[in-house]
Amino acid sequence: MIISKKVEKALNSQVNAEFFSAYLYLSMSADFESKSLTGFAKWLKLQAKEEVEHAMKIYNYILERGGKVELENIEKPKTEWNTPLAAFNDAYEHEKKVTSLIYKLVEISQEEKDYATIEMLQWFVKEQVEEEAQTQLIVEHLKMAGDSKNAIMMIDHRLSKREDD
Ligand code: FEO
Repeated sequence: MIISKKVEKALNSQVNAEFFSAYLYLSMSADFESKSLTGFAKWLKLQAKEEVEHAMKIYNYILERGGKVELENIEKPKTEWNTPLAAFNDAYEHEKKVTSLIYKLVEISQEEKDYATIEMLQWFVKEQVEEEAQTQLIVEHLKMAGDSKNAIMMIDHRLSKREDD
């Protein structure tokens, strides 16, 4: 069964939202890199890569269902954050927004009785729990660190251990 125009449009918007996430995290990564916080930079660069994978998962699904992929302009992200905490607060808020977009997509698919899309989206529902939890944890650690450069360097070191998966 070919996807309905309504589901196709909503999925295309999500492709754009995931690419924007990649842009946002890459922009944060570049900002951290310029401030010599290379662990944060590495973690965010890998996160950006993961967001491209999210976008491609939906992109491939649209094609698999006989739909049309339409790539839209990607919004320009912010380019500078005053502190690591400001950046990760933005990342956490962004992930909460993405979760609400995924929930909205599930609702649209339910209205359209598109069971295959509802099923495909379950992966994203679970993924968002993880995405929110990991950014929230970094926010909490940065709050604990406060103005201590040593503590921030320790978090930077921990984040540098993130593996490419
Ligand atoms: Fe693709 Fe971070 O959600």
